[in-house]
Amino acid sequence: MLELMEDLGRRAALAVTEKFGAQPGVPPILTVARATKPEFGDLQISAALQLAKALGQKPREIGQAIADALASHPAIAKVELAGPGFVNLHLSDLWLAAHVADALALRSIGEGQTVVIDYSSPNVAKPMHIAHIRSTIIGDAIKRVLRAVGYQVIADNHLGDWGTQFGKLIVAFKRWLDADAFAKEPVEELLRLYIRYTEEEEREAGGRVEEEGEAAEVKEAPPILKAAREELVKLQQGDPENVALWKKFIAVSMAEFDAIYRRLGVSFDVILGESFYNDRLADTVARLEREKIAEPSQGAMVVFFTEERDGEALPPFLVRKADGGFNYGATDVAGVLYRIERWHPARILIVTDERQQLHFRQLFATARRLGVTCSLEHVWFGLMRLPEGTISTRKGKGLIYLEDLLDEAERRALAVANESSPGLSDEERREVARVVGIGAVKYNDLSRDRQSLISFTWDKALALTGNTAPYLQYAYARIRSILRKAEAEGARPGPLGALAPIERALVLRLFGFGEAVEQVARSARPHTLADYLYALAGAFSTFYAEHPVLKAEPEVRAARLTLSALTADTLKKGLDLLGIEVLERM
Ligand code: ARG
Repeated sequence: MLELMEDLGRRAALAVTEKFGAQPGVPPILTVARATKPEFGDLQISAALQLAKALGQKPREIGQAIADALASHPAIAKVELAGPGFVNLHLSDLWLAAHVADALALRSIGEGQTVVIDYSSPNVAKPMHIAHIRSTIIGDAIKRVLRAVGYQVIADNHLGDWGTQFGKLIVAFKRWLDADAFAKEPVEELLRLYIRYTEEEEREAGGRVEEEGEAAEVKEAPPILKAAREELVKLQQGDPENVALWKKFIAVSMAEFDAIYRRLGVSFDVILGESFYNDRLADTVARLEREKIAEPSQGAMVVFFTEERDGEALPPFLVRKADGGFNYGATDVAGVLYRIERWHPARILIVTDERQQLHFRQLFATARRLGVTCSLEHVWFGLMRLPEGTISTRKGKGLIYLEDLLDEAERRALAVANESSPGLSDEERREVARVVGIGAVKYNDLSRDRQSLISFTWDKALALTGNTAPYLQYAYARIRSILRKAEAEGARPGPLGALAPIERALVLRLFGFGEAVEQVARSARPHTLADYLYALAGAFSTFYAEHPVLKAEPEVRAARLTLSALTADTLKKGLDLLGIEVLERM
């Protein structure tokens, strides 16, 4: 459909220039959009109204020229000039029927271009936070979509494997390690040690302490914090004992993350954590200073922004702390430069929660001054609200264990499967529970605009009706069961003939797949595809309720089987692009 829309738009532009002469105001392709109401036809061109001024012509005259040129196009059944100059296009059923099988084919809009996508990026020695879960799920869907439209995609897990928390952990590890607990559940033990450290520091400081050491510390540091800083310096200087501990922390955390990635079906091309950039930081900051992008301020090194240059006056961006240490900002500047040097990407996408918006505005403005021209996109999402008590949020600043969330999802999905699928074997039902449970958790995330505030409820996520993964998975399995029955009866899919209105609506829906996928590729908003799949499943269910498939006359049945098979293929492909599996039977 997108190709047709472009073709029509090009012909329309040509018609205008032929009739009124080449004019600078006429684009090479006029915009052809989906009609907003059925009475406006299938496609609509409103360019005549926009071009009237530039051409010095009446909009209806321009519209007439376009209408005349398109009337004989093989895809067009009828053209109408409406209102002040709208051109309404009605597509021919014959054309729709002949081309619907291509609706699943995606255009290679990313051909020859590379995208680096930085997502998941959890912090070592802490269990995955809800923000990393969302980043993992959203990032993975975007990655799949970008690949499907022809981009070369580099998936990079920017692991938080460096920073002040390691000095603290080393202190705690040396003082309070419970070796048995560490042998059994290493990450839990590390979390316990980290919490113990924090409590101790709070106690020594006589009250709450700042999370990270970025803000200038005015008060005398408590002894334990001093010890932590010393351990950190030792680590940075390559002390063998501390380096070994740091590596151990990374190894046990990574093993836990990997188990989760496996369960979610998520993988990366590279895992370049913060520590990877260590030996580039001094040069990076020196370059910022040399190019007069950063300057010293109160002992630290910062980038100042001005309104004229940056569009908005951002607060200063810290790239080296007063104590001489490099920070998250410096690491990210080095990261952008490294990615460009290594992959020459057209786009760099970084997926994190909304709280980092300012950081990335500062980072991108800094990168621009360094001469970076590629598209830099902060793909941010709102933090999801999880109701208390639905899953265990153990002590430790509301950290949520993704493992628990997935276990609970599968447990609940199994209960549903036991109720609704008595015909399946135990093993099949467990597989249904796995696919539905994980699909529900992912889809819950992907089906909402990532920037809106959402709350998680089990009932909504696992509902078999409404815009949920189980609903779409059931829709798919139901169509597959129809197709299996047909095959058993020897009925095969065949060409489409004349289309009843409801069939026509389904066909037009099928054609919307490419539009939805391309929109996700451009805007990095997976919910557009989820909305599309939900609408498609709805169109099929309306069709199926009105038009029997298996009981229809052979020719009609063959056509309806084709529509059913195309719907199933599209649902499967679309869900796959969201990282969600389907089942042949449920
Ligand atoms: N580890 C960071 C965090 O947990 C996210 C990193 C995102 N990527 C980046 N290049 N800064 O907040």
